[in-house]
Amino acid sequence: MTLSNQWWQWCWWLRSSVLLLLCVSPLVYSNDILCIDHHRHPSHSTTYQQHTRQCNKASSTHVKKATQTTTNKVYYTLHCADKSAVCDHVNHTVRQATDILSSLLQLETPLYANVSYFSFCDAFDECTIDKSEISIGQAYPSVSYLMTDQSDNMTRMYPQATLKQYTRLKPKPQWLEYDIISQFNADNYWYYSDDPSDILPTQTDLLRTILHELVHGLGFVSSWTDDLYQRFEPYVDNLTPFLTPMLLIPPKQLDTIAQNEDTNHGNQPFWGFVEFPLDKYMVYHSVPLTSITNLLNHWGDANVLYNTIYDMVNAWINSDLHLYAQSAYHGSTTAQDIAIALPNKNDTLLMETSLVPFADGSTLSHVDYSSYHNTADYLMTYTTKPGVGVTAMNKNFPTGPVGPGLLHVLASLGYRIKRPGYQTIRPTLIFWNPPDDLVGTTDNPTASASIVPNGPARTPYPSSSSSSPAPSSSASIAFNSTLPYLLSPLLLLLCIFFVSL
Ligand SMILES: *[C@@H]1O[C@H](CO)[C@@H](O)[C@H](O)[C@H]1NC(C)=O
Ligand SMILES: *[C@@H]1O[C@H](CO)[C@@H](O)[C@H](O)[C@H]1NC(C)=O
Ligand SMILES: *[C@@H]1O[C@H](CO)[C@@H](O)[C@H](O)[C@H]1NC(C)=O
Ligand SMILES: *[C@@H]1O[C@H](CO)[C@@H](O)[C@H](O)[C@H]1NC(C)=O
Repeated sequence: MTLSNQWWQWCWWLRSSVLLLLCVSPLVYSNDILCIDHHRHPSHSTTYQQHTRQCNKASSTHVKKATQTTTNKVYYTLHCADKSAVCDHVNHTVRQATDILSSLLQLETPLYANVSYFSFCDAFDECTIDKSEISIGQAYPSVSYLMTDQSDNMTRMYPQATLKQYTRLKPKPQWLEYDIISQFNADNYWYYSDDPSDILPTQTDLLRTILHELVHGLGFVSSWTDDLYQRFEPYVDNLTPFLTPMLLIPPKQLDTIAQNEDTNHGNQPFWGFVEFPLDKYMVYHSVPLTSITNLLNHWGDANVLYNTIYDMVNAWINSDLHLYAQSAYHGSTTAQDIAIALPNKNDTLLMETSLVPFADGSTLSHVDYSSYHNTADYLMTYTTKPGVGVTAMNKNFPTGPVGPGLLHVLASLGYRIKRPGYQTIRPTLIFWNPPDDLVGTTDNPTASASIVPNGPARTPYPSSSSSSPAPSSSASIAFNSTLPYLLSPLLLLLCIFFVSL
């Protein structure tokens, strides 16, 4: 072997190593697990933005131990405020609800719900809402993971319970202890599932309420919201309402940018809109809402810093994109305009779009009340009458409280159903790898800010900026008083029942 030959080989080795390094480093980066914690917001009325953080990877021993020692079903921990006999009734009802879900879902990993039962009046000082209703329960995923769906290249927020069904995921996140956080109001007049008498017309069925809330926690939730409209509305005269998915906030956001959130001050970023997995199946007539999300993400290429909120508002109005967002609003407030297109079935499930104005949490995260309240798919309507419980509904709909349409949706979200005829869909997911030049993050701290001097933005009127957000967002609670109770994932994720007093 000649010297030059050795030299060449060494050179080749060096080159391969460099190539390998180049290839490996982005891979390592893309293995970062980015997640979003969901909380109950203390105030009902402010915009709720969600911050992305780094979540941990599971150690391999942790994964092994979990799969060897537990049955794959829905587990719960009940925190009951008073230790009276009532807790035994609540416990019985929660057990029945989790048993029903465990009997329907062939879970790949055990699921855990943290269920609390306490007085919202004592704990949140929330004794009535609008003097005539109280909220009776809420549930939300504890955490969602930002995943890119390889079948359509969209990045979405996967609630932990949903992502746990994707067994081939690598690496595995170190799951948070609880998938679902749910709270039920002890101030309400409940009917428990072990009550020997029939439900009274004034009682609310706790079993039905818990099942409904847990299904939201499994991932039956939409990201479409009027939050951005609420944010821009004070700055423009007669702004036409519009709808977008939730705002994406990347990790490594600069503190100097974060502190401008929801204020009149400083630079305002836009990094894109992000859906939940359920939103993938939503169609407006036959147009997928995802195609609207895609168009909206062209705004500033989803990587733009505006000098001020006024520049941001002007840029939004000057672009044609707000027209798509307006049409989404129109669809969400016109009965039967938006549906879930069940991918394996030539069928649709109509979503709740008859509330005007848009009711954050009620609209789109529920099935259409008028179409389904008296069908086997009644469980996920946003409202129902007290005095109508699962037992009575089972007589008419012997398939049980989780109807066939809802089971198809759960199968499309990735759950395996223990009944024949449901095809589980699990596209290949990879952990979201954010671009590394995102403006206003520590990776790109000196990005220049866009100025948009021409446009309708003006200073908010003093009264409107201090008053609580106006008609549209409070609509979720200022509803027609003939509705006995109303259910709403408040501020996108919190699923709340309201009941008339
Ligand atoms: C609920 O019942 C289970 C047994 O099924 C028991 O272990 C648990 O302590 C009970 N929880 C409460 C809060 O009573
Ligand atoms: C579970 O709920 C209880 C009562 O609301 C709360 O104190 C506790 O922090 C929760 N645990 C987790 C891990 O979220
Ligand atoms: C997703 O993006 C990749 C790379 O940019 C591309 O090759 C692929 O065709 C895209 N897939 C779809 C379904 O758009
Ligand atoms: C789907 O259903 C519609 C009407 O319900 C029908 O016109 C259409 O042919 C069906 N398509 C398929 C592929 O079965």
